[in-house]
Amino acid sequence: MKFLHKKKQFFALLLLLFVKSLYAQQTSEILLSKLSLEEKERIVIGSEMEIPWSEGGDTGVGEVGGNVPGAAGKSLANERLNLPVVIFADGPAGVRINPHRASVPDKTFYATAFPVASLLASTFNTELMRQVGKAFAHEAKEYGVDILLAPALNIHRNPLGGRNFEYYSEDPLLSGKMASAFTNGVQSLGIGVSVKHYAVNNQETNRSRINAIVDERALREIYLKGFEITVKESKPWTVMSAYNKVNGVYASESYDLLTTILREEWGFKGFVMTDWFAGENVPQQLKAGNDLLMPGTPNHKNMIVNAVKKGLLTEKELDRNVKSILDIYQKTPSFLGYKPSGTPDLKASQKIAKETATEGMVLLKNDENTLPLTINKSQKLALFGVASYETIAVGTGSGNVNMAYSTSLLEGLEKKNLFIDNSVKEGYVEYIEKTKAALPPKAWSFGPDKILPEKKWTSEELDVIAQKTSMGIFTVNRTSGEFYDRQQGYDFYLSKEEQTLLKKISEAYHKHHKKMVVVLNIGGVIETNSWKKDADAILLMWQGGQEGGNAVADILVGERNPSGKLPMTFPIQYMDHYSSINFPGKELVDNPYPSGTVGVKSEVIYEEGIYVGYRYFNTFNVPVSYPFGFGLSYTDFEISKGDFKTTKDGKLELSCWVKNIGNKAGKEVVQFYISSPEVELEKPTKELRAFVKTKQLKPGEKQEVKVILNATDYASFSPKRSAWILESGIYNIEVGNSIDHIFFKETFKRNELLEVLKTTKSLVPKREISVLTKKSK
Ligand code: BGC
Repeated sequence: MKFLHKKKQFFALLLLLFVKSLYAQQTSEILLSKLSLEEKERIVIGSEMEIPWSEGGDTGVGEVGGNVPGAAGKSLANERLNLPVVIFADGPAGVRINPHRASVPDKTFYATAFPVASLLASTFNTELMRQVGKAFAHEAKEYGVDILLAPALNIHRNPLGGRNFEYYSEDPLLSGKMASAFTNGVQSLGIGVSVKHYAVNNQETNRSRINAIVDERALREIYLKGFEITVKESKPWTVMSAYNKVNGVYASESYDLLTTILREEWGFKGFVMTDWFAGENVPQQLKAGNDLLMPGTPNHKNMIVNAVKKGLLTEKELDRNVKSILDIYQKTPSFLGYKPSGTPDLKASQKIAKETATEGMVLLKNDENTLPLTINKSQKLALFGVASYETIAVGTGSGNVNMAYSTSLLEGLEKKNLFIDNSVKEGYVEYIEKTKAALPPKAWSFGPDKILPEKKWTSEELDVIAQKTSMGIFTVNRTSGEFYDRQQGYDFYLSKEEQTLLKKISEAYHKHHKKMVVVLNIGGVIETNSWKKDADAILLMWQGGQEGGNAVADILVGERNPSGKLPMTFPIQYMDHYSSINFPGKELVDNPYPSGTVGVKSEVIYEEGIYVGYRYFNTFNVPVSYPFGFGLSYTDFEISKGDFKTTKDGKLELSCWVKNIGNKAGKEVVQFYISSPEVELEKPTKELRAFVKTKQLKPGEKQEVKVILNATDYASFSPKRSAWILESGIYNIEVGNSIDHIFFKETFKRNELLEVLKTTKSLVPKREISVLTKKSK
């Protein structure tokens, strides 16, 4: 009886949802029919077309007609039809809005700074990502934001990518799973996301003028795959098209990208907005399926009305854009009349921010159990490195957050009742104050921060410090952000000062038979191979958001057991990445634009093809410093075989057991790699096809982990057939806790080729490009 009642309730709910969605669709159709051509134009352009805008200035929405200062953009209201303003705010590390509002001077609107995306990906924990998404959405909703300009999931093609910290990984599966978990979390609270930057936006140099030339297979398997997963698994409300060109056409003007692939192949139902000021040909953007122009500029006024009048765009095409936008707007809190409280539960977000930060930090080295620290009265630490005192929470640009506070390593460790050497601390505090005062003011608030040069210490000074303390910790930092890629010299590599200091600290402590630890407070990959032998332990804390200092302290003292894994490879040398031969591309001679932050006309050929990140290192046997998926724990795990089943249609069902065989509780990430046979297509030696993070396992505890893979989850893309295929031959599934540490294998054979999914021939490079193959190297 009870069951029947529940069933009825369930169907009633389904009916309600169906009617609601029908109603929303109808209402946008009815609305559309009431709009004049001029009013339609105002739907497809952001509100800044009404605000005088000057180049180089901070273009954040002010109080003028808006209600969320500092939000990146908003729509235009239509008073006649009672359509409210919809608010858009960045970004991947937190809701980027202004913490102050002139109308309520005694209130603040700080948002939580969550860890950067590289750290989030290192958690390999999709459930946690969903929670992070919910926390973002809660803050957005209570602060009056409707659509978040996140997640960002471009691929870490090259370690110097200036915004890699905003993106998840070099691997499309991990990127897509993280982005869809985040999206599902955000949208469960009735807030939209904008999945960005679609697509092939993997560098900042000349970002608005670069033509990325990519072969069809790499496009599908590497650069589009993460977006495909996100669209199919989480139905994002919006997508943000990228600045760059893909094979000769601006992403925001590409019908192939925005309509054929995104909508017709993947079934995307939301709307597409441009990245800020992107593209050149507005009618073509709208025709291609880029519905909304952001943030809108005064130049846009009448442009669309005139385009329709001149026949450059049909009204039917414009109607399709308007309807896509209205379908989504109807679901926003602003349209539904939600009254934001202005007081989100920041304590709850803070908890999630810290939890995530601890789960995404990666222990790279831990000789002789250097970590965790034992807390006793004789333990006295010396904290070296500017970043121990001024720990970087997140990167700069639109990936930044206006946070109420951020914690340093020093603050985190002081709360643990550890003795921190005062003379070293005072030395740094004074040095930092003096060096900062001598720095010229930042030319542009959006630009990257300047890293302070390291304080110098003599060997004699260090010897004295090493004698009176029991361990030295040296924190190395890096920052980057929009508009600039990182440098190979002092950025990817340590500076001369950093190298010398690291070596000297190591020598001083080792001379007295004591240990030294290196903490990496960075947003992207740096060189580690030349100096890792000098450290007894290395902890990659990333940029851990506002709770970074507290999280790292929890790990250092062993209150939390690290369980983060690398979402990208740490190479030995920068040039070991195949993409380094042409990153960030070359400038072209016929350059009609002045240079500036948007850059000049240029092109970059993705010569490495599908061999990005571990796919390259592993296949071509290039040694690395730390491999993909790697990360130590304070305990040990064993992964053993469970059941394995295959079906004719390519479905795989696999289970295994994970056992904590050490003496501390902890979590493990089980990684499933597949190597596929080569008939028509060559393949990377192995590719990540699934991953699962275990729950917290007590010493001796076991957990069964199960995965189901459909044929589409491990198929390869054949440009010749324009299809995803599984070839005949032997497949190996390797199960491990990093790409290089495999516990067991399963093998199966396919007798015939399976065409898994047909696609449309699209985005073909305009000229023949030669890409890396196993034979060509
Ligand atoms: C960035 C986007 C961001 C937008 C709004 C652009 O410069 O590329 O990621 O969402 O600005 O701030």
